[in-house]
Amino acid sequence: MCHPARVLLAMVSRLLLLVISAGLARAADPCTLASASTWVSSKVAHACEVNVPFNKTRSLSVIDSTIKALQYYTLENWFLHSPNPLIPHDVNIRALLQNVQKTTATVGYKSDWDFNMAITDAFNKEADGHTLYAAACTESFSFNLPFSIATLADSPFDKTAFPTFLVNYDFPNQGRAGLEDYFESIGVHVRPLDGARVLAINGVDASTYLVNLATESSIFNGLVGAYETVNPRYMRLMARYSADTVAGLYTLEVGRFGQRAFYPGADSVTVTLQPKQGGVKTVTIPWAATFIGSGNTTASFISETCLPSVDSVARKRKVDRRLEVEASPINKRRKAVVAPEAQGPVRHAASNARVAPPGNIVQPNLTSFGHFVTLDIYQLAEHPKVGVVYFEQFEPSDGTDANTYFNGISDTLFSGLNALKAAGVEKIIVDNSGNRGGFIFAGAIALWSLWPQDLYPGFPAVFRDSDLIRRESDAAAASGLGESEYSYFFYRDLNYVLLQNNSQFMDPPVPQVVNGVKDAYSKQFLDDFGDNSTAVTNFTTPPFEGQDYVFVANSICASTCSIFSSYLFQKHGVRSAVFGGTPSSTISQFDGGVKGSEVTDFDEIISELDLAGLDDDPAAPQPFPVSASFTMNFRNAIPYVDKQDGILEYVWEQDTKKYQFTHDQFNKPQKVWEFVAEEFFGH
Ligand SMILES: *[C@@H]1O[C@H](CO)[C@@H](O)[C@H](O)[C@H]1NC(C)=O
Ligand SMILES: *[C@@H]1O[C@H](CO)[C@@H](O)[C@H](O)[C@H]1NC(C)=O
Ligand SMILES: *[C@@H]1O[C@H](CO)[C@@H](O)[C@H](O)[C@H]1NC(C)=O
Ligand SMILES: *[C@@H]1O[C@H](CO)[C@@H](O)[C@H](O)[C@H]1NC(C)=O
Ligand SMILES: *[C@@H]1O[C@H](CO)[C@@H](O)[C@H](O)[C@H]1NC(C)=O
Ligand SMILES: *[C@@H]1O[C@H](CO)[C@@H](O)[C@H](O)[C@H]1NC(C)=O
Repeated sequence: MCHPARVLLAMVSRLLLLVISAGLARAADPCTLASASTWVSSKVAHACEVNVPFNKTRSLSVIDSTIKALQYYTLENWFLHSPNPLIPHDVNIRALLQNVQKTTATVGYKSDWDFNMAITDAFNKEADGHTLYAAACTESFSFNLPFSIATLADSPFDKTAFPTFLVNYDFPNQGRAGLEDYFESIGVHVRPLDGARVLAINGVDASTYLVNLATESSIFNGLVGAYETVNPRYMRLMARYSADTVAGLYTLEVGRFGQRAFYPGADSVTVTLQPKQGGVKTVTIPWAATFIGSGNTTASFISETCLPSVDSVARKRKVDRRLEVEASPINKRRKAVVAPEAQGPVRHAASNARVAPPGNIVQPNLTSFGHFVTLDIYQLAEHPKVGVVYFEQFEPSDGTDANTYFNGISDTLFSGLNALKAAGVEKIIVDNSGNRGGFIFAGAIALWSLWPQDLYPGFPAVFRDSDLIRRESDAAAASGLGESEYSYFFYRDLNYVLLQNNSQFMDPPVPQVVNGVKDAYSKQFLDDFGDNSTAVTNFTTPPFEGQDYVFVANSICASTCSIFSSYLFQKHGVRSAVFGGTPSSTISQFDGGVKGSEVTDFDEIISELDLAGLDDDPAAPQPFPVSASFTMNFRNAIPYVDKQDGILEYVWEQDTKKYQFTHDQFNKPQKVWEFVAEEFFGH
């Protein structure tokens, strides 16, 4: 029917079309490709990241302010060398950053991504979860595998546990819509492999590979150190139960093996598996990425994601002070918290896709004696004389305002613990697993609820004190307005008397030599939470004794969590049951570190300088010309035990008993609690 010439013409034009579209694809902007579909390969995503050109002027200003901000970082000289071999720190952060500065000023970096990662890498080496620089530009994709790993044993008492392959599509409250369809569409079918033992990863024995990954925690492998010792870092790689999403929902964490906020450093993982049905199988599984930044071209990605928004520049320069001075201004601000594993948009997507029980296999099926955002109270079914208090974290991320949160925690603890006692409960399991910290005041409310007669809850602390910081504290004293954290009247001396003037606090500084380096800190002080506990709790006597409590921990417990549990351990002898860790770990801490008493962020430092009128001082860091999150350890805590090591960071708080997670209970906290009740309290 068709004329041969016309067929030819059609063929030619189709060919032409192919040539043109191939040309277009070649010319297409990498960030357009990376943001055009929900899921793309990690290679496509990373091509966008490295397409942002290195800008020397901008980078020099970033690194200059980063180095100037170090004066606020209380651990700088402490972490030059650790006195405790169990908690190693041998990092000269200033020298590392000065190297970045030198490279920036001379040969430069291949791309903006390489520059930002150099700073992130320097801070990551500190393994101090409070202190990290992350440019928005380097965290604008979420990188995902279709599987997670959990290290599991047959019995909690086994000496060794084995890495297990877990298909993570059905993990409750993790969101990630379309991930399975994406992997199926590219021919990666993992469901039949669920539950297989992982023998090797990239050709290396699986346990060795994972322990190395946790030990090195290289940012170029997409990993953030965050915790001081290897066990919690290892646990962060693993799938594990938690309630750490935005609305405090029970979930199974994907873990950092299967989900990274930074480019994972390779585009696929090769695993050798021993499936349940026998045999040995080696499969290569690519990384998938989903874009969570803004912009659909390199240019718009730079302006909308990498650079600060016009709003945030204005906000930094004009702090709304009036708002901050209203009710409990300081307690609404002071936090000790480690950044969550996944980026905000990923966590919000997870919360929106909430899975309620019975679909949610993690959720306990127990009588609730109280629930408030991040706090759950239960009575055990098989051990009715044992109650459970699960502190998922110490701050809400669902928009609950600070005062409502503080009151809710206090009321829920008061009513819940009293109701448990009325129901015949005599012992309490405190589960802290995965608690990243939060408001210092929320931790104090929890401490004072349990120990209302203690003079004050928490540890003494110090700020670092440079000449610039001393002048900031003088300005705060002179203004008397209480807008600055350097206002002496927010704090008490070690006899719990309110400070009367700045000479009892920051001016003059207390000279100190730390690891051979001259340094200076404030005098030791305590947070002021009132004269006694009556303002924060209706308990007047401790509801239970120290020996009635036992912690359940997976060694991920940091910041305010760690201050809370360290206090219970050091002051009241509370015991602990620690689960997980490296496959053959025999010793473990119930709180895997980051015990500095407060974290601040760069924006706070900038607004404190504005407040003191010192923003143009030559020693003052300047607002970043990029969008970045930069948090740092802002106060050191002073321990009650093991004082010779100086700071709480170096106190190794040994577990009482150590257990493996089993196939049967790693995703069911209820089973873990019943087991611990039996182990510690019997029938
Ligand atoms: C580099 O950064 C500076 C400072 O932020 C900016 O003014 C300049 O436009 C940037 N140059 C390019 C080529 O984007
Ligand atoms: C990017 O988004 C803008 C605004 O939505 C749109 O006008 C533009 O065509 C998009 N560009 C590309 C390359 O998709
Ligand atoms: C929850 O526990 C109750 C009482 O023990 C039981 O009847 C019910 O079947 C359980 N539900 C689930 C989903 O396991
Ligand atoms: C600061 O207050 C303390 C305690 O009241 C007092 O002993 C000291 O003299 C005061 N110092 C100055 C410089 O006012
Ligand atoms: C607790 O502090 C409040 C307010 O400072 C005070 O009125 C009250 O008498 C104190 N109670 C006790 C038992 O010390
Ligand atoms: C103590 O109980 C009263 C009512 O009995 C309540 O109004 C108040 O908020 C409670 N205070 C605290 C700190 O829980």
